[in-house]
Amino acid sequence: MFDRPHAGDKALLVRIDFGEGDMQSRLDELTELVTSAGVMVVGGISGRRLRPDAAFFAGSGKVEEIAAARKTLDANLVVFDHALTGIQQRNLEKTLECRVEDRIGLILDIFAQRARSAEGKLQVELAQLKHQVTRLVGGWTHLERQKGGIGLRGGMGEKQIEADRRIINRRIKHLNAQLDKLMRSRKTQSRTRMRARVRTVALVGYTNAGKSTLFNRLTHERLYAADQLFATLDTTLRRLPISDTQEIVLSDTVGFIRDLPHDLIVAFHATLSEAADADLLLHVIDASSPTRDEQIASVETVLREIGAEERPQLRIFNKLDKTDLVPGIERDGYGRIRTVRLSALTGDGCADLRAALTEYFPANAPDSHTNDAVTMYDASGSPMQTDVS
Ligand code: GTP
Repeated sequence: MFDRPHAGDKALLVRIDFGEGDMQSRLDELTELVTSAGVMVVGGISGRRLRPDAAFFAGSGKVEEIAAARKTLDANLVVFDHALTGIQQRNLEKTLECRVEDRIGLILDIFAQRARSAEGKLQVELAQLKHQVTRLVGGWTHLERQKGGIGLRGGMGEKQIEADRRIINRRIKHLNAQLDKLMRSRKTQSRTRMRARVRTVALVGYTNAGKSTLFNRLTHERLYAADQLFATLDTTLRRLPISDTQEIVLSDTVGFIRDLPHDLIVAFHATLSEAADADLLLHVIDASSPTRDEQIASVETVLREIGAEERPQLRIFNKLDKTDLVPGIERDGYGRIRTVRLSALTGDGCADLRAALTEYFPANAPDSHTNDAVTMYDASGSPMQTDVS
């Protein structure tokens, strides 16, 4: 039996290649993730294997290499860019004599730091508990009873106590009940919007693609846009007039990422359902990213997981100022707008996006994109008021 080592603030990163290639950009992304969590990266180790080792994930030679590097670099945290089992994590912590986190724990930790709304906080805690409950292994005093995050850097008075599945399950039940209440009120609000037939447009995209910046640009709202992963966690809704008589509701959603932990997707289902129910998705893409296509594919995967793959979608190629591309609209063979190229930062091409939205949702026209209803207008000819602020 041994206590988990305390959380650290100087991380050594580990990524093993199982044939996916693209090691550098994956290590770069991991570096960004770890930095986002407020932890300093002091080094990185990569390796190659056919398949993970059951007990240590990496092979014994690699584990020795990691142990030596950790000592030389004075790292107090080792982060694997993979999903570790509870047993692997325990064995590694024992051998490396420091805290070991995996990609899922890391992402959960960032979400815990970023959650702002009551709903977001509950969702993250739920995901963390579900993650913990799957990795209760013997010989490791593992369960930390603290509200909110696991805390890579360690919360104040972080206490490590004997794992108790029942405590976790009781807490999970309690959180589910609270979330249920919040979700019921969210449903009522979205029903009100549906009745008023206000068109909803959801921004989706890989983390750091520029969703909040575009949201700000379009709505002139100062949202938190930072060069950090997952700066936005909770859905934000704003009305956006797109013509004299027509307005839409625009929502900024949580950023997506490769291998988004399944528990998180489940936990954030309510938040993400804002996207799943939208009349139109604006898929914001960082056109300047070397891993652009992989990011697009990851977003499509998450959209499938939340049941939003059938939603109409416009692709927004953002950060044009960092590329050779020119702003503009691209159409398919039927003349339908498929892509808008712009820079949310400089504003170039944003007029094209407004024009695209006006074209997509023609004022006073019967609902051409959904089957059932038409937009409702009040006596003055304005779209009906909704509950959205
Ligand atoms: P998450 O909250 O992680 O999902 O990020 P996000 O998609 O909301 O990205 P955000 O708007 O926070 O932007 C991320 C970074 O990219 C910020 O530093 C922005 O200033 C920058 N950025 C956004 N749009 C552009 C752009 O058009 N050009 C350039 N050069 N930078 C941009």
